[in-house]
Amino acid sequence: MAYTVPKLTDYSAAALERAAGECIAVCSRESASVRSDADLKAFRDRWMARKNGILTQINDLWLKGAPKEAKREAGIRVNDVKMAVADIIDKAEHIRLELSTAIGDAVDISLPGVRRPIGAEHPVVKTRNEIVSVFERLGYSVAEGPVVETDYYNFEALNFPPNHPARDAQDTPFIAGQQLKPQRERLLLRTHTSPVQIRTMEKMRPPIRIVIPGTVHRNDPPDASHSPMFHQIEGLAVDTNITFGDLKGTLDHAMKALFGSSVKTHFRPSFFPFTEPSAELYVTCFICGGSGKRGTDNAPCRPCKQTGWIEVLGCGMVDPNVFEFVKDNGYDPKKVSGFAFGMGSDLIFLLKYEVDDLQLFFQGDVRFLQQFS
Ligand code: DAH
Repeated sequence: MAYTVPKLTDYSAAALERAAGECIAVCSRESASVRSDADLKAFRDRWMARKNGILTQINDLWLKGAPKEAKREAGIRVNDVKMAVADIIDKAEHIRLELSTAIGDAVDISLPGVRRPIGAEHPVVKTRNEIVSVFERLGYSVAEGPVVETDYYNFEALNFPPNHPARDAQDTPFIAGQQLKPQRERLLLRTHTSPVQIRTMEKMRPPIRIVIPGTVHRNDPPDASHSPMFHQIEGLAVDTNITFGDLKGTLDHAMKALFGSSVKTHFRPSFFPFTEPSAELYVTCFICGGSGKRGTDNAPCRPCKQTGWIEVLGCGMVDPNVFEFVKDNGYDPKKVSGFAFGMGSDLIFLLKYEVDDLQLFFQGDVRFLQQFS
């Protein structure tokens, strides 16, 4: 039964003490059943309300109603009760506050959940995987090598002799303060993935068929089609009797797998120190289909600069001078032959998806990246 303030008939010290003790015990019991903010408010009002709260009633019934001689004692007891009740309510408020902030910090079950988007391949990785898997299906395996490379692997063993003008074409970021080292030991950021051809041939005897994806650096200021850091994929096949026909057939197949079976390929003579003969491979523009024009209004096709052809990579037959550097591992240029190729994989993505700024790949803007997820 709910507690009601008893009227006193006995105002003896003992009776007042008993009544006060009982009242405080009741208040303490009631505070234990406060579960919510609404409970707390009801509890507080029941005891503290000016108008008819229990403390007011006690004041009226026990103090005001006390005979003169008992007033002092009644005053002390009523005061005891007031202090004790204030204390109990204070504690109950404290506990409520702590509980509600603890629960609010942990989980607010009234809020909708946070949706965590599933990540997707970055375009750079996506293209790399696409290209690599085309060659894996042809029996190629994947090799990798260091980004910080020596002059020997990046140039010398690829038949760029010291001071050869072909080095100028690759604006090379060298590590500073190496003037005292022999040139071939000087460190640089590799300018192409070709050094991994040598590193792999040092480790694996022929026959080999490998693709080498990786990051390369050139001292090029960033703009819509250049970046000081970009990605390449290299290829190398060495065996007895590999011919230029194998090179053409392999790359023609790869281009059709990448850009669609209707593309045509076209090889133009070129120069690279590590291949002889060398060529650049062009594919018919997969945007305009080779016509150089787009749409019904015959707008000029930008990716192929209206030529109908797009250059996608450099390639050639491995120069016998390159095999000389790895001759001791089974690469006798009189016995083996091979072909190599290298392409800028960012560029291939750029062309395929008609992205007009290479920088978008490296800025990490999710609005751009999401389009390819
Ligand atoms: N390494 C060359 C470059 O970065 C690309 C290249 C051309 C690689 C011909 C090759 C190749 O393997 O045979 O410009």
